[in-house]
Amino acid sequence: MRVLVVGSGGREHALAWKISQSPRVTRLWVAPGNAGTALEAENVPIAADDIAGLVAFAKKESVDLVVVGPEVPLTLGLVDELAKVKIRAFGPSKAAAQLEGSKVFCKLLLRQADVPTADYQAFRDADSAMRYIKARYPNERDKASVVIKADGLASGKGVIVCSYRDEALEAIDRIGRKNEFGRAGSQMIIEERLEGPEASVLAITDGKTILTLPSAQDHKAAYDGDKGPNTGGMGAYSPTPVVSDDLFETIEDKILVPTIHTMKRNRKPFRGVLYAGLMLTQAGPKVLEYNVRFGDPECQPLLMRLQSDLLDILEATVDGRLDEIDPPVWDPRPAICVVVASQGYPGAYENGRPITGLEKAADLPDVKVFHAGTKLVDGTVVTNGGRVLGVTALGANLSAAKLNAYTAVQAVRWPGAWCRKDISDKAAAYLAASATES
Ligand code: AMP
Ligand code: GLY
Repeated sequence: MRVLVVGSGGREHALAWKISQSPRVTRLWVAPGNAGTALEAENVPIAADDIAGLVAFAKKESVDLVVVGPEVPLTLGLVDELAKVKIRAFGPSKAAAQLEGSKVFCKLLLRQADVPTADYQAFRDADSAMRYIKARYPNERDKASVVIKADGLASGKGVIVCSYRDEALEAIDRIGRKNEFGRAGSQMIIEERLEGPEASVLAITDGKTILTLPSAQDHKAAYDGDKGPNTGGMGAYSPTPVVSDDLFETIEDKILVPTIHTMKRNRKPFRGVLYAGLMLTQAGPKVLEYNVRFGDPECQPLLMRLQSDLLDILEATVDGRLDEIDPPVWDPRPAICVVVASQGYPGAYENGRPITGLEKAADLPDVKVFHAGTKLVDGTVVTNGGRVLGVTALGANLSAAKLNAYTAVQAVRWPGAWCRKDISDKAAAYLAASATES
């Protein structure tokens, strides 16, 4: 089978690595890929948002299956364009990808499906959003526990969590007047601010059958202790004790199943990965957002634990026969992914720093170094992005996995490299807190 993976991050390296292990793969490409994917597959220099270029390549090479990593090509309709030329692709259609592409669409769907989520109002312009805030919080110094969200895709940056009225007004100004998030801000949402630990639950679905993946937890803040600015994700681990078995069932029954059924009823059947970003509130789990693809970096520890053939699962999803395959087998051991980033990320950073120690890290047992922002220049791997590597390790328990991952992190070097030191500590903190409660 001839397979093309679209994207260039750590998630796509993990996908290519896992797919390459399938005995059924005869040829594997990644577009555009990075220095890591070049070790597992052939890189092709076509950007992930070049829909026409990707379709032309897939036709020319008679690709049997395209696996789409990031959200942008999904929301641009890559899967639909491939279907027109009879090429199968893993990922939702353009219509179904609106679950991530438009927060207003997502909220309407959640309301229709009766899925728990924060209360909200949608606004078409900054003036009406500001009037709403001023009416609800009449005094200048009022507290305002609200979250302001730009409607469209903004690389995870179009969400501003506020505590005071002033902050809310400033957020509306940034989204709706200064247009800091471009067209994503042409509509916005003001929603109630929820409290509680966060968790991600991802499910693979063919639109009828749902295969829920083990739980995972991301670390979105840049610095230790969840301090500092938001990032794409500084590390993840799986499974997380934050999602108990009971809670897992509730999330399936009350969140995933009704969402997928409602999408089907609305003639936008969802095929691919449905990623629920959840807040576990006192009143139960609530959806913060949906993504329509694997999380990055959540994908890395998840695929590190997957023992079954990923290609079988992806193909069954595309063909609508997920109910026919054996349930996937997961390594019971936990896995951790630590993101090593460029100096300055998530702000400005420089590319082109040579990375050393990759072979040394690769030799460590139960470790896989996934590349994210890297490229090959004259045979040397250099940095080429904010999140550079996703150093991932398995271990007999969470602390062993953490030790393995950080031992590998110490082996890789470049000037300015840094990472969070506390990836997965949330698990221990959560367990300690629940032990004192009970
Ligand atoms: P999102 O991209 O919608 O998942 O939002 C990014 C981050 O903003 C989430 O991971 C949460 O930490 C925070 N967030 C989003 N919505 C809310 C909410 N309603 N209440 C509290 N925090 C939120
Ligand atoms: N790790 C968060 C995301 O992929 O959106």
